[in-house]
This record gives sequence, structure tokens and C-alpha cells, in this order.
Amino acid sequence: MTLLNTNIGKVNLKTPVLLASGTCGIAGREFESYFNLNELGGIVTKSLSIKPRDGNPTPRVVEIPGCGILNSIGLQNPGIEYFITNELPYLAEKNATIVINVVGETLDDYASAVDLIKTKKEITAIELNLSCPNVSGGLDFSQDPKKAFSLVSEIRKITTIPIWTKLSPNVTDITEIVRACVEAGCDGVSLINTVIGLAINKWTKKPTLPRATGGYSGPAIKPIALRMIWETHKKFPKVPIIGIGGIHSTDDAIEFLLCGASCIQIGTANFVNPKTSIEIINGLKDYCEKNKLKSINEIIGQAHKEQLQAASKH
Ligand SMILES: Cc1cc2nc3c(=O)[nH]c(=O)nc-3n(C[C@H](O)[C@H](O)[C@H](O)COP(=O)(O)O)c2cc1C
Repeated sequence: MTLLNTNIGKVNLKTPVLLASGTCGIAGREFESYFNLNELGGIVTKSLSIKPRDGNPTPRVVEIPGCGILNSIGLQNPGIEYFITNELPYLAEKNATIVINVVGETLDDYASAVDLIKTKKEITAIELNLSCPNVSGGLDFSQDPKKAFSLVSEIRKITTIPIWTKLSPNVTDITEIVRACVEAGCDGVSLINTVIGLAINKWTKKPTLPRATGGYSGPAIKPIALRMIWETHKKFPKVPIIGIGGIHSTDDAIEFLLCGASCIQIGTANFVNPKTSIEIINGLKDYCEKNKLKSINEIIGQAHKEQLQAASKH
């Protein structure tokens, strides 16, 4: 047990800092020259589908200066079989903690993909991407609690590997979707994926992205992510939350943990500074030492305690 050990249900992570899906290549190879991949809490792969996907037409990314980026990659990936043959052995050899992010257009797509990895010992968790806003029909599973429930319960029957469900913020009440996923047997919820946004090109007088809308990420979405983690932790304090959305610094990470996340993922910040995750790990160690914490777990959900005490006084 070290200062930064944390648990997501039965999964024990070395540190609470992981790389988010789609922001570290397919399997984090690009980060190898910056640090050892096994120093992280884990690497979440690019979303992998049963068949390879070419993705959307270009341009696929627009910078929104100071706020983040809008992307419409369209889930480009080489397919899960390619990953198993070419990338999984690499990650295992690096002794990385591996989280496989899986996506599909239909329940069968998800089930067939998970079927190929269901018994792989080197996989720590499966993150089901219920929520890609950049493909047709991609949001169906994350906006309808019944569809979310049927998908997660089907996958639960296939594998005993822990399942994290990655949810979309593009809903009215995130806790309804969380409830459905938890009742279906998931082990943690990854909050949040990107927020639907739009950019206009004043020269072409058209949307900048060919499909018009894209997924917004980066510093501007941090308050949205925190709000959804807050609501989820308040309603389901025992459900492990993997916090994602605009985390660029140790201070951001601490806010997510205080809000109720048990670990965090770094996304857009990787494009600004590829060492962000390692810098945050070091920052969290310093924070524990300065505050004489025995474990980073002592701060998880602390922000709610203050709130509950204040409420009980009125
Ligand atoms: C370029 C890009 C590609 C992404 N691709 C995926 C993906 O394949 N699967 C997925 O679940 N999330 C994907 N995401 C979402 C991120 O994992 C993360 O949830 C989101 O960007 C919010 O975190 P951030 O503000 O720290 O970037 C992608 C994000 C970006 C910016």
C-alpha cells in the first residue's frame, strides 16, 4: 500500500492517474519516450470496435483557444483483433495496467468485441464507451437507461473482467443512466465523455467540422464533469467513479477526488503537455506529504462531507 494506491471496486490501481481513451494513440506507445507506461494508474486504449473503422472526413479537430478542442474523429481504429495481436503484447511487456475501451453500433458489436478479450488475464478492466457523439446512433446507449441496462447486462454475462461504463454528459439526468449501468452489474462509471459542440468557420460561412457537430473537451468542460460527478456521488456514494474532463493540473485532479472520483483520466491535456499525467502523480504525492495524509483515498468525496454538515445545521 503506497500513498497513491486507489481502488475501483475490486481493481487496485498503483496511482489514481490514467490516460484517457483516444488521447494517447491506440495504446500509449507515443508516451514511451516521456515516462515508463507502468508508472501510471493505467492506460485506456482508443475505443476498439469489432471491425476496423476509417473515421470521419477531415478536418477532425478544431482548437477553441483557451477552452479546449472540438473533435470529430469518428472512432477511427484498427479493430480489436489487430489490437490483440499487435498492441496488447506490447502493453503487457511494458507491465502497463491495461484498460480496453470497447465501442460498437449494436449490442452484438459490443458483445463480439468483448468475446475476443473476455478471458485475457493481462486486462485490468473493460471500459464500455456508451457515448460517442461523433458517429450516427453513437449516443443511443448512453441516453436511454433501458438500452444502457440491456447492453451492460449482456456484457456482464460474457466476462468477469471488471466493467467500467463511460457515459455521455449529453443527457438531462446522468444519475438515471448511472443507476441503469450499476443495476446491470458494472463496477464503475467513467464520467464524462465529450460535450456536443459546434464551431463556425467565418470564411467558408459553414460549420468547421464536416459533420457540423463534434465532441468538446478540455478546460472548459471541467465544471460540467465536476457537476456530474457530484450528482452521481451524492446519489450513489458507493459507486466508484473514474473522473474525466478538463484535468490539466494537480489542482484539477484534487478537485475531482474531493468531488467523489476515485481516480482520474487525463485527456486533452496530453496534447498540450504529454507529461501531464506524471506531473500530476508527483503533485499528488507532494499534496499527501504536505497534508500528512496516509493515503490519497482520505480525500475522496470530502467535498460532500462539508455540504452534508452545512445542510444538517439548517
Ligand atoms: C481527440 C479525442 C479523441 C477521443 N477519442 C475517444 C475514444 O475513442 N473513446 C472514448 O471513450 N473517448 C474518447 N475521447 C474522449 C476522452 O477520452 C475524454 O473523455 C474527453 O476528452 C474529456 O476529457 P478531457 O477534457 O480531459 O479531454 C476522445 C477525446 C479526444 C479529445
